[in-house]
Amino acid sequence: MRVALGVGGGIAAYKAAELARLLAERGAAVEVIMTAAAQQFVRPLTFAALTGRRVITALFPNEEADALTAAIEHIRVAQENDLLLVAPATADLMAKFARGIADDFLTTLYLAFRGPVLLAPAMNVNMWHHPATQENLGVLRARGHRIIGPGEGTLACGMAGPGRMAEPEEIAEIVFAALSRRRDLEGETVLVTAGPTREALDPVRYLSNRSSGKMGYALAQAALERGAEVILISGPVHLAPPAGAKVVRVETAVEMRRAVLEHLEPATIIVKAAAVADYHVARVPSHKLKKTAARISLELEPTPDILAELGQKKGDRLLIGFAAETENLREEARRKLASKNCDMIVANLVGPEGAAFESDDNEVVLALATGEFIEVPRASKREIADRIFDEALKLRLALHASR
Ligand code: CTP
Repeated sequence: MRVALGVGGGIAAYKAAELARLLAERGAAVEVIMTAAAQQFVRPLTFAALTGRRVITALFPNEEADALTAAIEHIRVAQENDLLLVAPATADLMAKFARGIADDFLTTLYLAFRGPVLLAPAMNVNMWHHPATQENLGVLRARGHRIIGPGEGTLACGMAGPGRMAEPEEIAEIVFAALSRRRDLEGETVLVTAGPTREALDPVRYLSNRSSGKMGYALAQAALERGAEVILISGPVHLAPPAGAKVVRVETAVEMRRAVLEHLEPATIIVKAAAVADYHVARVPSHKLKKTAARISLELEPTPDILAELGQKKGDRLLIGFAAETENLREEARRKLASKNCDMIVANLVGPEGAAFESDDNEVVLALATGEFIEVPRASKREIADRIFDEALKLRLALHASR
C-alpha cells in the first residue's frame, strides 16, 4: 500500500507529521510532498525521519544532476502510489485542484494522478464558509474525491467553527478503509435509478420534487470503483455522471419504467434511489394552460410503481428501494420492504429534521429482508453508498444461506 501524502501550508501541517507516522506504522509506504508554504510550518526532515523516505519539496530541484529525473518525477509519483491524500488541504490547494492549476509539484501530481483522492481541509472558519471555497469543494466532491472533515472547534486564529483538520487517527482509518476496499462488485451489473422525475402538466409546466440525484450518483460511483458494470438511469439533475457508467436519461416516471425494464436483464443488483413522482397527469394537454380568474383543480393519476413491479420480476436479483419519510421511519421502511417485495429499504428522514434532499450528507436506516435494522450515522453520501453495498453483499449471502 503506497500513499502519496501532500502537505499544504497551514498550521495543521504539524498534525500531518503524526498522520505520516500513523500511516507508516500501519504498513503503508508513505511518500510526502510538501508545498513551499508547508515548509514554513514544518521542516521536511521531520517527515523524512518519520517515513524513512526523501521528501519532495519542489518541482524543479536545484541540483543539475537531478534535472532529468525531476522533469518526470511527478509522473513517477502518480504511477507508483495507490492513493493521494492531501492533509492539510488549504483553501488555495483546493482552488487549484478544482481548476486544474498546476504550478508546483503537488498540484502537478494531482493532475497526473488516476487513483482515489482524499482531502482533509483545514482553514479559518470564514475561509471555509466563503462561497469560493464552497464552490471548489462542490467541484471536488462531484469529481468523486473524498473530503474528510473539517471538524469544529477553536481554530488557531482564535475563532470557533468548522475549519480544524480532522484528527490523524480518523484520517488514517479512512485511508486504510479506502485502500483495502476490494473490488468486491466485480462481475456484478448494478442498475441505479437516480434523481427526480418530471411530470408534465402542459408543454411548459411540470410537477417534480427536491431530489438532487446526489445519492444515486454516489451509488453509481461507488459501484464503479468496486468493479461493477453500472447502468445509471437518471431523471433530470445537474450532476456530471461518473465516468464508465452507461447513462440513460429520462424525464417521466413512465419513461423511467420503460428504461428500467429495458435494462433489467443483465442487472444483478438494482438500487432504486430515484424519487419517482407518485402522480402525473395522464393526458398532458398539447397547449399551455391559460390563466383565468377561476380556481382550477388538477386531476392526477398514480404513476406506475416501478419498484413494486420489479419486486414481482426480480428473480435472483438483489432489489434495494428507498423510502423518504417525514415520520415513523422504521415502520414505513418495513411496510415498503414487504409491500414491494424488496431485499433492502434505505430509509431516510426528509423535511426540517432530515439531512437527505440536496445535501451532500445523509443519515439512513437500512431495513433488511432478514428483519434487521441497521442505523448508518450521518456521513457523506459516498460513504453511505459504500455502506449500502457492504450490507447488500452480506445480505445476499445471508439470504442464500437461509434458502
Ligand atoms: N418508486 C417507484 N415508482 C413509483 C414511486 C416510487 O419505483 N411510482 C420507488 C422509489 O424509487 C423508491 C421507493 O419506491 O425506491 C419508495 O418511494 P416512496 O415514494 O417513498 O414510496 P411510496 O410507495 O410512494 O409510498 P408513500 O407515498 O406511501 O410513502
